[in-house]
Amino acid sequence: MAAAVDESQKWVLMVTAQTPTNIAVIKYWGKRDEKLILPVNDSISVTLDPGHLCTTTTVSVSPAFTHDRMWLNGQEISLAGGRFQTCLREIRSRACDVHDKEKGIKINKKDWDGLHVHIASFNNFPTAAGLASSAAGFACLVFALGKLMNVKEDQSQLSAIARQGSGSACRSLYGGFVKWIMGKDDKGTDSLAVQLADEKHWDELVIIIAVVSSRQKETSSTTGMRDTVETSLLLQHRAKEVVPKRILKMEEAIRNRDFTSFAQLTCTDSNQFHAVCLDTCPPIFYMNDTSHRIISLVEKWNCSEGTPQVAYTFDAGPNAVMIARDRKTATLLLQKLLYTFPPNSDADLNSFVLGDKSILKDAG
Ligand code: DP6
Repeated sequence: MAAAVDESQKWVLMVTAQTPTNIAVIKYWGKRDEKLILPVNDSISVTLDPGHLCTTTTVSVSPAFTHDRMWLNGQEISLAGGRFQTCLREIRSRACDVHDKEKGIKINKKDWDGLHVHIASFNNFPTAAGLASSAAGFACLVFALGKLMNVKEDQSQLSAIARQGSGSACRSLYGGFVKWIMGKDDKGTDSLAVQLADEKHWDELVIIIAVVSSRQKETSSTTGMRDTVETSLLLQHRAKEVVPKRILKMEEAIRNRDFTSFAQLTCTDSNQFHAVCLDTCPPIFYMNDTSHRIISLVEKWNCSEGTPQVAYTFDAGPNAVMIARDRKTATLLLQKLLYTFPPNSDADLNSFVLGDKSILKDAG
């Protein structure tokens, strides 16, 4: 005899969200608290257009689910890692009543503790290849769970939760130019993201990403920055003396759309971040020969023009992110890159992604 089906257990409530990744122009590197993910300095980033590098996450809840589960790019992954659990716990503790009249579903605030979620997440770009996949991933997870559980917190408060998934994720809760304020509090309540300018500000900038390698990086950001904090004296100088001044100058450059300052600060900060990696024991090499050739190409071009045309920045991997002052310059840059690295040449440069700045999109 077939088991009786409990009709009250059959509903599923679902929310889908899409979140773009962000690229830091003043880098976050180093934590003062590993568990809460509190950084040693402020950072500033640009959020990309969701069409290019983004994560799409669907979260669902049903009384029929027996435990929390997650799939990344179609493969089930373990939720045992502390960071997922922290984000889930923080959002669950803020869950409110949900009433979906159309589906006849009513979840009371107190019911959330007994309900489990299923999470399905897709990246439209290589995961863990130094293209900030964890940033888009955790921001999207927190945003989608917040919608599902009717969490009333604003984006900045949500950013402090996403931060506990992956530091850089807090900046993807906003579009445009975003600052992650390091905060002073030991508990991390004031370590959150704020929007400096929205996605319409300075919209002639064009971002080009040269995917030098889509392989997973050898040293994860988390391990790399732990080693740096433990061994690099240069990091202490950077965090205390250099970055605070640079943050102020970068905010001014963004406000005034001053590309010359913006480009100088972006390139110098990327180079100092990689210098700090070299100053780590054992040294960390994120860039490769192709990355160095791209830096030379941009530096020579900027020098020959007398004023910067393009800014470059590299995260924890060899891929180059270039920001062109306008669309015409971006087209010229693409031509130069294709000329220098023709398709099928020995340089392992396999694709370019074009992106604009953009806003967080709720597809739910
Ligand atoms: C080089 O945010 O990936 O991209 O907080 O340990 O998850 P965890 O690190 P993550 O580090 C990003 C470092 C960076 C610079 C930046 O995005 O600011």
